[in-house]
Amino acid sequence: MDKLKWWHNAVIYEIYPRSFKDSNGDGIGDLRGIISKLDYLKTLGINALWLCPVYTSPNIDGGYDVADYYNICDEIGFLEDMEELIEEAHKRQIRIIMELVANHTSDQHYWFKDAIKSKDSKYRDFYIWRKGKKDGGLPNNWMSSKTGKSVWSNKGNTDEYYLHLYTEKQPDLNWENKEVRYEIYNIMKYWFDKGVDGFRMDVINKIAKASGLPDVPDEVPYHYGEMYFENYPHVHKYLNEMYYEVLIKYPDKVAMGQTSGVSPEQALSYTDESRNELNLFLQFEHMNIDCGDEGRKLEFNPNEFKNSIIKWQTALDSRLWNTIFFGSHDSPRMVSHYGNDKEYHEKSAKMLATIQLLLRGTQIIYMGDELGMTNVNYSNIDDYVDNRSISTYENRVNKQHEDEKTVFEDIRALARDNARYPMQWNDNKFAGFSSVNPWMKVSDNYNIINVSKQETDKDSILSYYKELIRIRNSELTIGIGIFEEIFEEDKDLFAYKRVHKNIEITVVANMSIDEKEVNTKNFGKCIISNYDDECGKLRSYQVNVYKKVLN
Ligand code: GLC
Ligand code: CA
Repeated sequence: MDKLKWWHNAVIYEIYPRSFKDSNGDGIGDLRGIISKLDYLKTLGINALWLCPVYTSPNIDGGYDVADYYNICDEIGFLEDMEELIEEAHKRQIRIIMELVANHTSDQHYWFKDAIKSKDSKYRDFYIWRKGKKDGGLPNNWMSSKTGKSVWSNKGNTDEYYLHLYTEKQPDLNWENKEVRYEIYNIMKYWFDKGVDGFRMDVINKIAKASGLPDVPDEVPYHYGEMYFENYPHVHKYLNEMYYEVLIKYPDKVAMGQTSGVSPEQALSYTDESRNELNLFLQFEHMNIDCGDEGRKLEFNPNEFKNSIIKWQTALDSRLWNTIFFGSHDSPRMVSHYGNDKEYHEKSAKMLATIQLLLRGTQIIYMGDELGMTNVNYSNIDDYVDNRSISTYENRVNKQHEDEKTVFEDIRALARDNARYPMQWNDNKFAGFSSVNPWMKVSDNYNIINVSKQETDKDSILSYYKELIRIRNSELTIGIGIFEEIFEEDKDLFAYKRVHKNIEITVVANMSIDEKEVNTKNFGKCIISNYDDECGKLRSYQVNVYKKVLN
């Protein structure tokens, strides 16, 4: 890193707008709700917000199906509200990152509505169309790893199918078409000119598809097509063009790419400064550690989790900057996923927060994780609303006749609904999120886990997050210090040092219930811990952080 930019040591807070705060009593979170909570976010200590999509959308996929990139979804607010949010956030030194969903649009976008009508449509070539095979089969054998179905649909008036890597209501844009690319660049400029500070670029590493769209070999499990569209080489050509057309003109705006399935070398190929493509990447290795095909929950192994994090902390050289997150709108709740959301709820939530926030890289906290919000325990499949939960159920129970109970348990553990149910503000009816029954059912633990309760408790998870963020923001060593793993031989311990000049910060975390003997004598003074006293041992899920001035 030649020069650090604001995003390198930012603590970003991710908001799923529909579920954060409803300001007008229609049961749906909105921009005015976010504005009303800016002071809360400021006290937390974060310095940027990443908003999941707020654009006009039929919401088949939580807004990741955009029908108008220049306007705000009716339910979420007006353009004026967005302008006010940008202004009010900036007054508080909080930057705003929006979503750029550029791999696909909604089928309700006017480009697609026109394109589907006829082969002569002006917008036909904005999307990817193919005839079926001679024998009447689909254009190729690609299956979507997200929906479990073919990536081809033919609706509309012609004999051609269109490609969609996600649901059939999210047709993929044809990035080979220059007009499409420049439309996207214009959208970016429009929001940058409104004061937006950057984009999180949705599945940006999938915009380039192999020419000819060949069948995947039969040995590829489930015929998932990733080998022909994920990190496909000419993606770099497009991103480089985007850089020269847009990003170079806005040097203080961040381009954060969602790049699932990357290796450290590939991550560097997107973000190395000399490449002139993106600034940050998001990788999901640790998030997918217990996710099998077709939504199957695998056993969570803390050691694999630790090794994955450490691999990325130590990968490559100073040119590669990490982005660190343990939760997101696409995953289970971090305390339920990696910790213990029962007897050790508070301890393990604090332990995970400490491991996360002291690592090297740009930090992202998913809304509600600062309270230790847990996976939701809906008891009925009908309570789940996410399209992926529903298709997992359909594919495995209805089509493959798998045991209903097993499938339901998998959905409970891994559903994206776990991250998307309403934020818990207080113990009023509907969790203080709304005055009416919200669009998604509230969780049954909001009277125990909520902002209002934790705000006044100095030992709460929320107070602990504030202290951690304060420490992070005040210790340069946590920002830029080198990373070194310690106690690597103990599979239950996640321990590391951060060192810069003469300051050494040491984190020692016990990821298990069992007590651990550890010698911490030489680590200096304990500056934060999730237990009150130090007793020479690490108890269940205990974490201690030490600071030492080296001579
Ligand atoms: C990304 C988003 C996810 C969405 C998908 C399709 O993975 O994070 O929420 O469903 O892209 O846009
Ligand atoms: Ca509302």
